[in-house]
Amino acid sequence: MPLPWDFAPLASDRLRLDLLRPDDLDDLTRLQSDPEVCRYLLYEPRTREQVTEVLARDGAATRLADKGDYVQPAIRDLDGRFLGTMYFALHSLDDRTAEIGWILAPDAQGRGYATEAAGLMLDLAFGELGLHRVYAELDPRNRGSVRICERLGMRHEGHLVEHMWLKGEWTDTGHYAILEREWRANA
Ligand SMILES: CC(C)(COP(=O)(O)OP(=O)(O)OC[C@H]1O[C@@H](n2cnc3c(N)ncnc32)[C@H](O)[C@@H]1OP(=O)(O)O)[C@@H](O)C(=O)NCCC(=O)NCCS
Repeated sequence: MPLPWDFAPLASDRLRLDLLRPDDLDDLTRLQSDPEVCRYLLYEPRTREQVTEVLARDGAATRLADKGDYVQPAIRDLDGRFLGTMYFALHSLDDRTAEIGWILAPDAQGRGYATEAAGLMLDLAFGELGLHRVYAELDPRNRGSVRICERLGMRHEGHLVEHMWLKGEWTDTGHYAILEREWRANA
């Protein structure tokens, strides 16, 4: 596996993925403090102070080398406007597996940006990084996120029932995954 990999920007016809920067603080705070955005995320809406810490941590996460390493690039349009963030984490080196996730600002939703950004990450995962499998975990009530997995060709591999006490209720988790050969076959 060609690791370590140091973050390099990714681009499509409409989008650019690059690292979070200190001047993203306003946009990232707007995103991560929004109760609707956070509804199906593992965390509660964050304060500006909390986002300041998160931004410093995530902006410095630039290298994939070991299990647990992650990158959290910003999704931007070609004018540089902040649209949201992607999450991509190495889950296992032996199994060449990573986890993927996505968040879009409300005014950037409904245009296919998250699916397109995830496609860029999957191209990277199964191309340059030589991974075997990428998975996503989500709250099955999060229909927008389920639809992204389906559009990407990810398989629904599991549904854990009330396995997690989260935000005052027992919560289910859906597990979706795609293999390198499946991504290539769909390309
Ligand atoms: C989950 C989330 C990213 C989904 O956003 P989204 O805008 O629906 O996803 P996409 O950017 O892929 O856009 C897909 C939608 O745009 C539409 N669309 C419009 N133009 C499009 C285009 N050119 N290409 C593809 N889709 C397009 C699609 O039809 C689709 O709408 P539909 O699902 O109603 O059919 C968003 O709701 C979100 O950020 N939620 C809060 C954070 C969150 O829950 N993250 C996931 C945690 S698991």
